[in-house]
Amino acid sequence: MSAEYHVQGSVAVITLDNPPVNGLGHATRLAAVQGVQKALADDAVKAIVITGAGKAFSGGADIKEFNSPKALAEPNLHSLIRTVEESTKPVVAAIHTVCMGGGLELALGCNYRVAMPGAQIALPEVKLGLVPGAGGTQRLPRVLGLEMALNMIVSGTPVASEKLKGTALFDEMFAPDADLLASAVAFAGKVADARPLPRVRDIKVDYPNHEAFLQFSRNTVKAMSGPFPAPLECVECVAATVTMKFEDGLKFERERFIALIQTPESKSLRHAFFSERQASKVPDVPADTPVRAIRKAAVIGAGTMGGGIAMNFANAGIPVTILEMKQEALDKGLATIRKNYENTLKKGKLTQEKFDQRVGLITGSLSYEEIGDADIVVEAVFEEMGVKETVFRKLDEVMKPGAILASNTSTLDVDQIASFTKRPQDVVGTHFFSPANVMKLLEIVRGAKTGKEVLATTLALSKKLKKTGVVSGVCDGFIGNRMIEQYSRQAGFLLEEGCLPEQVDKAVEKFGFAMGPFRMGDLAGNDIGWYIRKRRYVESPEITYSKTADLLCEMGRFGQKTGGGWYDYKAGDRKAYPNEDVNAMIVKHSADLGVERRKISDQEIVERLVYALVNEGAKIVEEGIALRASDIDMVYLTGYGFPLHRGGPMFYADTVGLPNVLGTIERLARGRHGDAWKPAPLLVKLAAEGKGFNG
Ligand code: NAI
Repeated sequence: MSAEYHVQGSVAVITLDNPPVNGLGHATRLAAVQGVQKALADDAVKAIVITGAGKAFSGGADIKEFNSPKALAEPNLHSLIRTVEESTKPVVAAIHTVCMGGGLELALGCNYRVAMPGAQIALPEVKLGLVPGAGGTQRLPRVLGLEMALNMIVSGTPVASEKLKGTALFDEMFAPDADLLASAVAFAGKVADARPLPRVRDIKVDYPNHEAFLQFSRNTVKAMSGPFPAPLECVECVAATVTMKFEDGLKFERERFIALIQTPESKSLRHAFFSERQASKVPDVPADTPVRAIRKAAVIGAGTMGGGIAMNFANAGIPVTILEMKQEALDKGLATIRKNYENTLKKGKLTQEKFDQRVGLITGSLSYEEIGDADIVVEAVFEEMGVKETVFRKLDEVMKPGAILASNTSTLDVDQIASFTKRPQDVVGTHFFSPANVMKLLEIVRGAKTGKEVLATTLALSKKLKKTGVVSGVCDGFIGNRMIEQYSRQAGFLLEEGCLPEQVDKAVEKFGFAMGPFRMGDLAGNDIGWYIRKRRYVESPEITYSKTADLLCEMGRFGQKTGGGWYDYKAGDRKAYPNEDVNAMIVKHSADLGVERRKISDQEIVERLVYALVNEGAKIVEEGIALRASDIDMVYLTGYGFPLHRGGPMFYADTVGLPNVLGTIERLARGRHGDAWKPAPLLVKLAAEGKGFNG
């Protein structure tokens, strides 16, 4: 599919046709250029309309061609826009639904733009760590003015076309019920003889005292963009519209684009963009696998997780019933949900109407009979196999045939849970992250007997709930927690060898993590890990752990919920204050172990924590627990606060170079607690082959 050409009276119509959003791939660009040439050669044609088939004018670059030589093959996007801009017959862009990135740049190269209301207009390149590369930064300010264009380009956020009515971006905005093509052809007929042809490039950008405005923008954008260089480069490109001639501005934009595309930040953002799409694909579950309708949901347990999970359903417009054992627990859970929504309402992030709607979709119950007709039930009761068994046996009795029986367990064996029912094909793990109404990650645990239809439905549901669904096989801790265990072990060993919590947290936060391991432990509750370790001391005595975290728990310091953990906290303040007793306990523990404390560099801290993730991640890929390394990156980017500008642990390891990562791991394997550093065979293999986890 590419672009279709036909003539209506004296107007040639070129319809971009490359589903799903008419991405400007090579075939489409070529057909569009040929269309313009054909129209110019046909004396009967007086004007040209360019529009898009189906659900978009154009969504911009064809993501299928990203990172492939086809993206640059002639005619590239520049050549297409030049062909349009240099046309001797007027070219009209007829815009609807989606007009983004290269699509908007193409429209800006046309002499006229007419549009339907409700079209999404954007230059979203900044979200991939880039500046628009085909004149967008030079042409948009010429039609919208410096300020509005700068906001759009720096944020990448779509703006509805009707909000831009009255600007020079649009020559006409049609009524919502208009026939776009007929109206555009009529418009083209009216302007067929107008000369000289208007061109966006000829417009002069006027902004009184533009230097002051640009400097203010630079300061603001710099303060807001963290480690990402692209937003500031967007400002510089927009600045070029007032400081340079059009051709020089174009050249400047091109140079910035080429420089940015090489940066690790842009590579990481593009990796995350593709990984997110990839994660929803499961090789043996084809895209046309039937999915079950989810119109009604139930949640078992109104605790920390159950409440948040119920909110997800309500936010997506799906009615949900929460089931508890006792009225008191139910009331408490429902009150917490209400309070959460009230806070959002107070902050102005929710309208009263939406508040009423969402609260109204959540009901409570003490009776299993009332949830039997739900299409999905998510169990979020205590993390004990005995309790899960009781619940799943009951669910097997009461749920209608075809209902999905999901468990939010974070550590238990989903296959065993499925075995409590006579329908293991309908059982799946849905591992939400806390707070479940906020965190984007949803680990979807595929049991040995989970049906393909159930997996496909759960993946589709994750999208509906606005989550990033990542499929994991069954193992202790699944993808995310199994890896974090190795990271936490290293954090503990670092304390024994010479670090204090603050140094570790600061080093990791400087690397870009949202929170270091000890602040994270205090937030989540140190007792959770304590409980898991106690089980492991019995089940897997060969695994070594630092005892510092146990000693901390023995001091009753479980974290923020007990007023202190690794750190102290003050009421109304989330700041972590080092605690002398805790630090003394850490130093004493080293002495008790006979370990001489040493100065440990920030680099060593980061390497040990991050490579612990990488090494375990490699094992997880090799065992088939994760389908691909990029799924692991998505788990860490969306569930564990791994820095986005580093693309996830596996991508980061690729950036460092796997032989370098392996070299460090081999060195650590010869050191203290070297047993924790057995290199993953996949890492050894890929390093030897000169490959990365992501190819
Ligand atoms: P919680 O203790 O806050 O809540 C559990 C709720 O289940 C309580 O309200 C309890 O009354 C109720 N309950 C217990 N047995 C029940 C039964 N037979 N029928 C109906 N209700 C029953 O626990 P939390 O933290 O919400 O954890 C729930 C599940 O989610 C566990 O499997 C846990 O491992 C998992 N999980 C927890 C995360 C967390 O950060 N807290 C993160 C991800 C998963």
